[in-house]
Amino acid sequence: MSNYTVNEYAELIEKELSKRLYSVKDGQDYVREAMNYSLSNGGKRIRPILTLEFCKLCGGSIEDAMNFACAVEMIHTYSLIHDDLPCMDNDDFRRGKPSCHKAYGEEYALLAGDGLLTLAFETALLDGNNVLPENKILAARTLASLAGIAGMVGGQVLDLQAEKTTPDYNKIKTIDALKTGALIKSAVLLGCYAANATDKTKLEAAERYAECIGFAFQIVDDILDVTSDTETLGKPVRSDEKNEKATYVSLLGIEKSKQTVEQLTNEALAALDVFDNGKSEFLRNFAISLADRKK
Ligand code: IPE
Ligand code: IPE
Ligand code: MG
Ligand code: MG
Ligand code: MG
Repeated sequence: MSNYTVNEYAELIEKELSKRLYSVKDGQDYVREAMNYSLSNGGKRIRPILTLEFCKLCGGSIEDAMNFACAVEMIHTYSLIHDDLPCMDNDDFRRGKPSCHKAYGEEYALLAGDGLLTLAFETALLDGNNVLPENKILAARTLASLAGIAGMVGGQVLDLQAEKTTPDYNKIKTIDALKTGALIKSAVLLGCYAANATDKTKLEAAERYAECIGFAFQIVDDILDVTSDTETLGKPVRSDEKNEKATYVSLLGIEKSKQTVEQLTNEALAALDVFDNGKSEFLRNFAISLADRKK
């Protein structure tokens, strides 16, 4: 089985996403265009990469995991489109270009998000691979639950409610675990399900890895919001300050945040110990590179 680099994975995912975003006729195509605009180019694709690699780690093939990988990236992209809307974070740039609502208008950005959310489930449930039917059902249910009110959507609710307040450490942890961690966890679990994995110890280890890198990922996002620039990130910096968001950084400062990221990354690496060392190398390096990312 061939080994992909992060960049090769991103290119492959780009192609596979566009294959699954089918054309519709006449006027409806306008919203498909808006979906394609946000879905193509610029994203790091870290969630679908996790799905493909966890499938491999559990003995499956990346072809079998591709529908799940694309589904998670579609939901992630929808969450970004809605997150940028004026009624949410009100940010005008995303992935290095005007946000969806700036390019297509708010009403179509809303619908493009809805379109991607529903296309994700259509895609996850496509035929033509070796994923057992019961694992497709499990994957769809897991994805729905982790993307919904008990997961990402719920986290976005808490994130809005925490604006202009000073929540404690545990509250911030919950917000981050839900708004960002939940979808990262779905990416990891769906990779395992695509491989028809059943080993409870390994599934729990995969979840633990996801929890650690998920929390670290949002902390790094909050750090970069303060320390980076718009050109590098492809989205506005100082967005959190503008919206008076309660973040790990606003609560504990940059230095403590960096320490926590390092600690969480070490915990993620330790979680991988139950897997064959040779096979988990990509995911080890991936966790380290995410902690150290510049965008
Ligand atoms: C941004 O996610 C939103 C967060 C959950 C922090 P990414 O940093 O993965 O964004 P893209 O997909 O690379 O644009
Ligand atoms: C993102 O949090 C969480 C989502 C579910 C989209 P942020 O609001 O910090 O993400 P960015 O910084 O806009 O990408
Ligand atoms: Mg937000
Ligand atoms: Mg935002
Ligand atoms: Mg942010």
